[in-house]
Amino acid sequence: MTASATLEPTVRDGFLRLVEERFGLRSSRHQARHLEEAVQALQGPAGCTSPEHLLALFVTGMRPDLLEQLVARLTVGETHFFRVGAQMDALRKVVLPDILGRRISQRRLSIWSAGCSTGEEPYTVAILLREALPSVDQWGLTFLGTDISGDALHTAREASYGDWSFRDTPETMRQRYFTREGLRWHLSDAVKRMVVFDHWNLADEMYPSPGLGNQGFDLILCRNVTIYFSAELTQQVYRRFAQSLAPGGWLVLGPSDAIPELPTDLEVRMAPGTMLWRRPLPGSHLSAQLVGPLGQPTLPPAAGTRVAPAPDAPPPPAVAPAPTASAPRNGHSQDIEHLRSLVYSGDGTAAMLQAVRITNERPLEPEAHLVLGMLHLDEGKVEQAVESLRRATFLDSHHPLAHFTLGRAYLLSGDHVRAGAALTHARRTLAVLADDQPIEAGGGLVAGELRVAIDTHLALVGRMGTR
Ligand SMILES: C[S@@+](CC[C@H](N)C(=O)[O-])C[C@H]1O[C@@H](n2cnc3c(N)ncnc32)[C@H](O)[C@@H]1O
Repeated sequence: MTASATLEPTVRDGFLRLVEERFGLRSSRHQARHLEEAVQALQGPAGCTSPEHLLALFVTGMRPDLLEQLVARLTVGETHFFRVGAQMDALRKVVLPDILGRRISQRRLSIWSAGCSTGEEPYTVAILLREALPSVDQWGLTFLGTDISGDALHTAREASYGDWSFRDTPETMRQRYFTREGLRWHLSDAVKRMVVFDHWNLADEMYPSPGLGNQGFDLILCRNVTIYFSAELTQQVYRRFAQSLAPGGWLVLGPSDAIPELPTDLEVRMAPGTMLWRRPLPGSHLSAQLVGPLGQPTLPPAAGTRVAPAPDAPPPPAVAPAPTASAPRNGHSQDIEHLRSLVYSGDGTAAMLQAVRITNERPLEPEAHLVLGMLHLDEGKVEQAVESLRRATFLDSHHPLAHFTLGRAYLLSGDHVRAGAALTHARRTLAVLADDQPIEAGGGLVAGELRVAIDTHLALVGRMGTR
């Protein structure tokens, strides 16, 4: 097989089905594209002469190590220290003070970073913990970092990083906890030994299990992992997390991750720019509450806006839209195609640069604003996200994903009224689509899935409204 060879459709589907069954990864354009390269790279090490032979080997359960390598090539391990400032603030100001306060008499803490990739996420939390609790070494700490990628776990255990991993890291933190050697930064032993790394497939049904030592976690982080999972598996994983948490324990999901469906065993807490989930303490009722100084009902109006918009009427962008703004969207240009491929490959920085370039050149291109909004939301930059998404929805008022994402951004900003309006609008734009119809710019997302996600968010908004 050469690099340009294509897999037989039955063989390709066989690989994708296997990967979905065993690891929960639903097939996406990104996966389909990387599958060929992965199969080609692994045939030699597996001693196989054809893709069919490799598939047969995996189906019969042989070489699980190589199957995991294949899966790792289909996911994106992108991560960095102090990722999403709003979530770091919430950990520092809300979550850690809460769990430290409740555990002070036992002096025991359990934390799990699920889907930790190369370790930046758990190490960041370990640093925050050390900052909050200088005597952490005298506590009984269980801190697990787990992933399916053996290579990522190897890097995590080495704990040596390049500059790019620090793009959101306060310089004082880097200087305090890392030592420079050439182009690499080595994490201090004190932080390194706080975290134990292990292999764990979140699609397995084996947790909570005493074997994993994972019952009664005070904090679970699972950010930007379930993006690869089907909606059903994602909710299953959330239910298992809820069971793995101690009463009062916290769950932190990524800003773009699906939220737990209601009714859920978890209650939501809003902190500035982020949502947190929590297993209720005995005797407390499930609720949605605000924590921290959030609550400003609206964000400053977008640039160029003179009058505050009605909740479901996004303001105009700085430039008035062309009459074609909400024309059929199937004839998109090459640079939008390229932008999509950058988004699907998980290269957020390149996607951001490309989206900015397109919005500069063609300010009336809705999808570039949509992508900008999604990327801002990913990084917890809610205000910028709202601004870009309002432009996207104004330029294309029939774009369900743009309205849905705007609804999420409003929810994170604490503006439940506008969130409800944007989500309701998203629901309306979906009305004409059959469940299996792909959503424009959704990377494989279909209308049925988006409808479920919208309803989940609307239920959450409803619950917040009745607080
Ligand atoms: C984008 S990284 C997220 C890293 C980190 N949580 C963050 O947000 O910065 C996604 C990680 O999920 C892991 N992953 C994907 N499917 C998984 C599964 N079924 N079980 C465990 N980890 C999985 C991938 O190997 C990858 O390292």
